[in-house]
Amino acid sequence: MLARYRRRSRPSSYFGTKPLPATLAKLATKTATAPDTPMRSILITGAASGIGAGIGHALAAAGHHIIVSDLALDGAGAVAAEIRAAGGSAEAVALDVTSDESVAAALAAISRPVEVLVNNAGLQHVSPLEEFPLAKWDL
Ligand SMILES: NC(=O)c1ccc[n+]([C@@H]2O[C@H](COP(=O)([O-])OP(=O)(O)OC[C@H]3O[C@@H](n4cnc5c(N)ncnc54)[C@H](O)[C@@H]3O)[C@@H](O)[C@H]2O)c1
Repeated sequence: MLARYRRRSRPSSYFGTKPLPATLAKLATKTATAPDTPMRSILITGAASGIGAGIGHALAAAGHHIIVSDLALDGAGAVAAEIRAAGGSAEAVALDVTSDESVAAALAAISRPVEVLVNNAGLQHVSPLEEFPLAKWDL
C-alpha cells in the first residue's frame, strides 16, 4: 500500500519546496529509519488546505492514518479522499478548535483514538502594521 502511495502521491506545493519541521520529519521518515515503528493515528487540525493538508499528505506517505479535521468538512473530505486515492489511510471530520463541543463531537465520531495531534489550525491577517484593524486582534 505504501509503495503505491509513494508512486502516486505528489508533494504539496508547501512541502514540495520547504523541509518538514524536525519532529514531523522524524514521523514522516519512520519507514526508512525504523520500519517496525507502528502506524500512528494522527489528527491534524485545519487540514483542509495549505500547511495542514501538506502535513497530512507527507505523514500518510510514511504509512500513518490521518484524521483530516477542519471547520470546512467539504475541504477536509477532499483531502482525505486524495490521500485514500493515492493509497493512504485517512478519514475526515468537522472540528472547530475554538469549540469544546465541536472537539468532543469530533473525538466521538472518529474511527480510532488519537495518538498524535498536529495543532495546525489558525488564522493570520496580513497587512502593514499601521493598517492592521484592531478588530482582527479579537479572534
Ligand atoms: N502560511 C504561512 O506562511 C504561515 C506562517 C506562519 C504560521 N502559519 C500558521 O500555520 C497554520 C496553517 O497556515 P496555512 O497557511 O496553511 O493556512 P490556511 O488558511 O491555508 O489553512 C488554515 C486552515 O485552518 C482552518 N481553520 C480556521 N479556523 C479554524 C478553526 N477554528 N477550527 C478548525 N480549523 C480552522 C481553515 O478552514 C483552513 O483550512 C496557521 O496556524 C497559520 O497561522 C502559516
